[in-house]
Amino acid sequence: MTRREDAVLRVGEQEYTLPVIVGSEGEIAVDINRLRGASGLVTFDRGFANTAETKSAITFLDGEQGILRYRGYPIEQLAEQATFLEVAYLLANGRLPSRPQLDDYADEITHHTMLREDMKHLFEAFPKEAHPMHILASAISALATYYPDALDPGDPWAKDISMKRLLAKVPTMVAWSFRYGRNQPFVYPRNDLDYVANFLNMMFSFPTENYEVDPTVSKALNVLFILHADHEQNCSATTVRVVGSGHANLFSSVAAGVHALSGPLHGGANQGVVEMLESIVGAGGGIGPFVQRAKDKDDPFRLMGFGHRVYKNFDPRAQIIKRYAQEVLAKLDTADPLLEVAMQLEEVALGDDYFIEKKLYPNVDFYSGIIYRAMGFPTELFTVLFAIGRLPGWIAQWHEMQQDPTTRIGRPRQIYVGEPKRDWVAMEDRSA
Ligand code: CMC
Repeated sequence: MTRREDAVLRVGEQEYTLPVIVGSEGEIAVDINRLRGASGLVTFDRGFANTAETKSAITFLDGEQGILRYRGYPIEQLAEQATFLEVAYLLANGRLPSRPQLDDYADEITHHTMLREDMKHLFEAFPKEAHPMHILASAISALATYYPDALDPGDPWAKDISMKRLLAKVPTMVAWSFRYGRNQPFVYPRNDLDYVANFLNMMFSFPTENYEVDPTVSKALNVLFILHADHEQNCSATTVRVVGSGHANLFSSVAAGVHALSGPLHGGANQGVVEMLESIVGAGGGIGPFVQRAKDKDDPFRLMGFGHRVYKNFDPRAQIIKRYAQEVLAKLDTADPLLEVAMQLEEVALGDDYFIEKKLYPNVDFYSGIIYRAMGFPTELFTVLFAIGRLPGWIAQWHEMQQDPTTRIGRPRQIYVGEPKRDWVAMEDRSA
């Protein structure tokens, strides 16, 4: 029987009644779960642009209105008020921690930050010039070999300890891969420092002298990590879920997510933005030629840091980051010509018909690299910083999927457009 709220699909003479699902923010989806069984039909949706694969209670995003909320809390409030670990707790557990809960959580994370000593050799095995995203993905994969007793996604203890180990150890991995590439000594984690300060200390301190963590840098990095912490079913989170849907362990699933993030259309764009701004400054001809190239259909060049699959008016994260970029550079007393170029580019693009019509706005990656530069991070490390920030999201998405009894292995259909059946041709009868 068709209810008033059902959807009806007519194909030729045949009608199919499809139930409609409504989310807690009024989003509506046509449920096609039984469509193929009833009709033999599949749906065709490149890039999953119209497909909700899961119900999720973690992050709400409204791309038309530029809204982003983690577990109901607006991103603007979290960026202003929370610590990164508080947000990680929130994403994983669905509620803000009480003081004792947060202290216990931070204490547990702090006490898992060390890597197994023999893991040093893993970093030493890479070429010095290796990209840190590739090293990070390999190192996260390798965790599965160190903790074989805690890999079963069906075991609550194994899941819990793995989620904490991963969040704790990734900053150490990132810092050690950086130090190795620079021929600098590995710096061990320090339990007296918070998550962000400990990471900065492992990155930039030397055994020979005192290193004071700059509060401006640590506050800004805390905010940047929070802004990156989750973004619902993006490319890397979807990768983590699809890999995990086959019951792969957390480390293997997240390592796949790191690979997905490394692409220039996804997290790799933050590195791409700074490289593009450097080319604009280097070319010396201003932003005009680059804007023209971005608009030219025959030129594959795109303005890095512009456009988003979901945000069609503005990216709320980009707005917060732009404000921070100006503040951080002023506080650190750093003048970066790239910031000037970035602001010119934004202004010109936002007034240009091409970008207006296609609803292309600066995204999260547009200004973040400028702050990372001012903090002293080299360009090739930017996407890895995105990965540290995104960890709580990947972990929460993987966990939610594993807990959901309706989860099925990710296995899309296709429309075959190859040759129809044909018979084997003997070698001597084949044309060149
Ligand atoms: N510069 C110039 N033209 C663009 C750009 C851009 N940055 N982005 C999209 N377009 C054009 C594109 O050519 C297409 O034009 P047409 O309709 O004439 O073919 C139209 O806008 C729609 O683009 P699309 O590629 O179909 O859109 P999408 O939703 O599949 O891709 C995107 C979204 C983010 C991959 C894309 O906008 C892009 O490549 N941006 C540059 C890379 C970037 O900044 N990525 C970071 C994304 S945000 C953080 C993250 O996810 O990691």
